[in-house]
Amino acid sequence: MKYLIGIDIGTSGTKSVLFDTEGNTVASATADYPLYQPENGWAEQNPQDWWKAVCSTLSEISKKACGEICGIGLSGQMHGLVMLDENNEVIRDAIIWCDGRTTEECNEIESIIGHDRLLEITGNPALEGFTASKIMWVKKHEPENFRRCRHILLPKDYIRYMLTGVYATDVSDASGMQLLDVGKRCWSGEVLNKLGIKQDLLAKVYESPEVTGYITETAANLCVLKEGIPVAAGAGDNAAAAIGTGVCENGKAFTTIGTSGVVFAHTDEMIFDPKGRIHTFCCAVPGAWHVMGVTQAAGLSLSWFKNQFAKDLPYNEIDRLCEKIPIGSDNLIYLPYLMGERTPVLDTNARGVFFGLSAMHTRAHMARAIMEGVSYSLKNCLDVLDESGVAATDMALCGGGAKGSFWRSMIADIFNMPIKIMQSEEGPALGAAILAGCASGIFKNVPEGCEKLVKAKHEQQPNKTNHAEYEKYYEIYNSLYPSLKSNFSMLADLANKRKD
Ligand code: XUL
Repeated sequence: MKYLIGIDIGTSGTKSVLFDTEGNTVASATADYPLYQPENGWAEQNPQDWWKAVCSTLSEISKKACGEICGIGLSGQMHGLVMLDENNEVIRDAIIWCDGRTTEECNEIESIIGHDRLLEITGNPALEGFTASKIMWVKKHEPENFRRCRHILLPKDYIRYMLTGVYATDVSDASGMQLLDVGKRCWSGEVLNKLGIKQDLLAKVYESPEVTGYITETAANLCVLKEGIPVAAGAGDNAAAAIGTGVCENGKAFTTIGTSGVVFAHTDEMIFDPKGRIHTFCCAVPGAWHVMGVTQAAGLSLSWFKNQFAKDLPYNEIDRLCEKIPIGSDNLIYLPYLMGERTPVLDTNARGVFFGLSAMHTRAHMARAIMEGVSYSLKNCLDVLDESGVAATDMALCGGGAKGSFWRSMIADIFNMPIKIMQSEEGPALGAAILAGCASGIFKNVPEGCEKLVKAKHEQQPNKTNHAEYEKYYEIYNSLYPSLKSNFSMLADLANKRKD
């Protein structure tokens, strides 16, 4: 029997999955870790926590393999800045994707490179979420840390280093650093020179299905694996989830509700939104790209609510209570901007809002309003993709939020389109395993791997009456951010003044 392993280094935890070569899950293990928020809008994690989680989950699943593990694929949260010193020790906690501290650095990047030129090379305007502005922040605010830095890695690439001893990345994740020439799929000398970042700090760039290195003896001992297993380049979590849901050709798209929420569409041509509301990145299919809109706090909104106000309720019980509340949550609307927002509003100062709160509302109303608000935000992403001319006609759904039928049907109703639910719930981990299958020669190429391993379980049809009802609230939802934009900025200014 032959096996493939997919590892997904997520924000709430790491999941490692052992698949057979038909795509069946043989074993799966998850280990969670904390997210640190030292200031409002900041987000950091300890890379050692990721590594411990990888070691414990791999040790657990590898025991279940009674044959050869042919390859390992990596997937992970994008954009996070991991800095290593000359002894390959982590210099500071990683500044991760949802950290919004770098507005000043983004303005600097835009003025040094020029807005249009930056868009032309990197496919995107300067964003707080991306790695380049995080590097510039450390350079300015922690010069000693920057001086000690010898290697800059993304989260899954730090894990690759620990597994193989190799400094490597893949084109999809590298795109999110904003240092890659996304059209040419290699580091941009121009951007690096202008920002004063030496290329030798960065990892070597590979296409996602390529082999980047092999499990070392030390890693093999720590993770209960055999030495020498090939490790594929893999992909950022969204590009990997695309492969895990079969999104590898034009017309195909998926929506995920993880910690963040994403609406992602494959494109054979590099297209971008001049307003920068959606990201254009290389995808895990060599020679192709993707566009995606991002809701910063999707599953995070509901997990935040549950942790603060409903610890006693399991998620399926929350669903059951929400089902009893009518569409529109009895006139309660939630804006999911807990960590600022990217699509369709690029605003790191935006924050969460419950609008219309009344004394008759219960926590079930609030939970339903959160699911509705996150779904409206994802509909915003879909609307921007439509506007950009990307035909997302075939939509799959994945991520933790896709597990319950309640949220799934809400998405189908709000999007007003059929939504495919996949047989495997593993999204990014399955995608990473398919890439490992390509790297180890089990599949000829990515589409063949998808064809063999990715299957839809059923299609959730939209309910037209519900859609019409949701549309009334969607209109009000869309009017709220423009009314609050300047208030969000005033509130952020107060916090900044307190710091000074
Ligand atoms: C994408 C993004 C998030 C992270 C977290 O640009 O920032 O989706 O990858 O999973």
